[in-house]
Amino acid sequence: TKVYVPRDMAALAVGAKRVLAAIEKEAAARGETIQIIRNGSRGLLWLEPLVEVETPDGRIGYGNVKPSDVPSLFDAGFLKGGAHPLSIGKVEEHPYWAKQTRVTFERVGIIDPVNLDDYVAHGGGQGLAKAFEIGPAKVIEEVTKSGLRGRGGAGFPAGIKWKTVADAPADRRYVVTNADEGDSGTFADRMVMEGDPFVLIEGMTICGYAIGASKGFIYLRAEYPQCAEVLTEALEAARKGGWLGPNVRGSGFAFDIELRIGAGAYVCGEETSLLESLEGHRGIVRAKPPLPAHVGFMGRPTVVNNVLTLATAPAILAKGGEYYASFGVGRSRGTMPLQIAGNVKFGGLYETPFGLTLGEIVNDIGGGTLTGRPVRAVQCGGPLGAYVPPSLFDTPFDYEAFQKHDSLIGHGGLVVFDDTVDMAQMARFGMEFCAIESCGKCTPCRIGSTRGVETIDKIVEGVDVEANIELLSDLCNTMKFGSLCALGGFAPYPVESALRHYPEDFRKATLPAA
Ligand code: NAI
Ligand code: SF4
Repeated sequence: TKVYVPRDMAALAVGAKRVLAAIEKEAAARGETIQIIRNGSRGLLWLEPLVEVETPDGRIGYGNVKPSDVPSLFDAGFLKGGAHPLSIGKVEEHPYWAKQTRVTFERVGIIDPVNLDDYVAHGGGQGLAKAFEIGPAKVIEEVTKSGLRGRGGAGFPAGIKWKTVADAPADRRYVVTNADEGDSGTFADRMVMEGDPFVLIEGMTICGYAIGASKGFIYLRAEYPQCAEVLTEALEAARKGGWLGPNVRGSGFAFDIELRIGAGAYVCGEETSLLESLEGHRGIVRAKPPLPAHVGFMGRPTVVNNVLTLATAPAILAKGGEYYASFGVGRSRGTMPLQIAGNVKFGGLYETPFGLTLGEIVNDIGGGTLTGRPVRAVQCGGPLGAYVPPSLFDTPFDYEAFQKHDSLIGHGGLVVFDDTVDMAQMARFGMEFCAIESCGKCTPCRIGSTRGVETIDKIVEGVDVEANIELLSDLCNTMKFGSLCALGGFAPYPVESALRHYPEDFRKATLPAA
């Protein structure tokens, strides 16, 4: 019997390893033969550790398994999918799973992440085969046709970026995966890398083939040791299986990927400081232009794309650009892996076409707050994203609709807060975060963020409240328009949105006590 126990960090963090040990021990004691598969996570994170058993009817899941539950699971005949209070039935019929449109995540949680045969058995490799069949120029055409935009947050069209690099005259070019997933409330990159690393490897190879690069790098944040472990195993397996190396799958195309680990700086998620760090320098932002697409790693034209962008390329090639473009709304084509986090009942990964409203995401999919109190704010797009109040919950999830409200969808992370949140403190956090993570290159960010923290402190203490709020708004403007990169440029968004939607939280000191 096949038993799946995830090796995804979200499952390990809540005891998956101990559950695995208990299952192995119990099986041995009872003389049962089982085959353990360490899959990624399905993304139903509130149910982790989610153990699955393969039965002739499909995979039956058991959620929130603790080591002490294991004997009773065996008593209930869970190896045959037997009934048990922890059973959630067929995982694929669970509404949270069944209602998703999984494209980028089609194999995550299903396959053994480091087994190439399993990858191929579940459709892996078809995108690259297609790429070799149609040639580099048509690959770029297909990606352009798909409407895929950079999933790191800025949403720049991937096909145009690839074409820019392919057309730039150079002796060599590079593909770099930005796996420095630093936004609070985001975990989609990690889940892909831990649950289906070959899809990233395949996507990078497709990109390398399209732009004429023979070398790729994955720049992984240091805080993801489990990712590093899985990626290292997967890269090794890909080399052994002939998916990387001097002759990728007999095509004559040479490509290899190197894994590099960052050193814990948020700003290294910004592409130019990532490149500096990759070259061995201090992670400090470079002025743009020149764009990395023209002058990137070691001065060569470089595609720097987020994990999700590259991991979506195989499905686009396999199924066609038009297939991918058939999902979504407006200029936001395809699907977005939403990461629902914070104070929410059903936190997890939910891949769906663009266009659901924020209210549907938070209330229908996320189930509202875990505390059961009313939702007061949702921060979208990381620590530098705006706070969105329930009055804007009819905003559809797409790049342009969010921009209209001075907010951003970013990398698709949503952090939910209930009505006990103090929004002045959340605004302070935005400035404090910026002060801690600033690379120090430009004044508005380096000095502005610290002055921002001090000014919010004064407001909260009740010192010259209105004058200081005006000063804070001025400072936000200076940072927004005067900063060299998005770190300083976006730090004002949480502050301004908090001021706009929750003005009362900044005036508590001056209001009469209720
Ligand atoms: P950007 O708008 O300057 O650039 C977007 C991308 O398009 C870059 O790779 C840039 O080099 C490329 N590009 C722009 N014009 C081009 C052209 N004509 N030809 C070829 N390539 C071109 O945005 P930036 O500063 O790179 O990123 C800001 C975004 O990062 C924010 O929207 C934010 O949501 C996101 N972000 C994501 C984080 C994460 O953990 N994923 C963390 C923090 C911010
Ligand atoms: Fe560095 Fe901040 Fe300026 Fe970006 S905005 S270059 S992080 S100082």
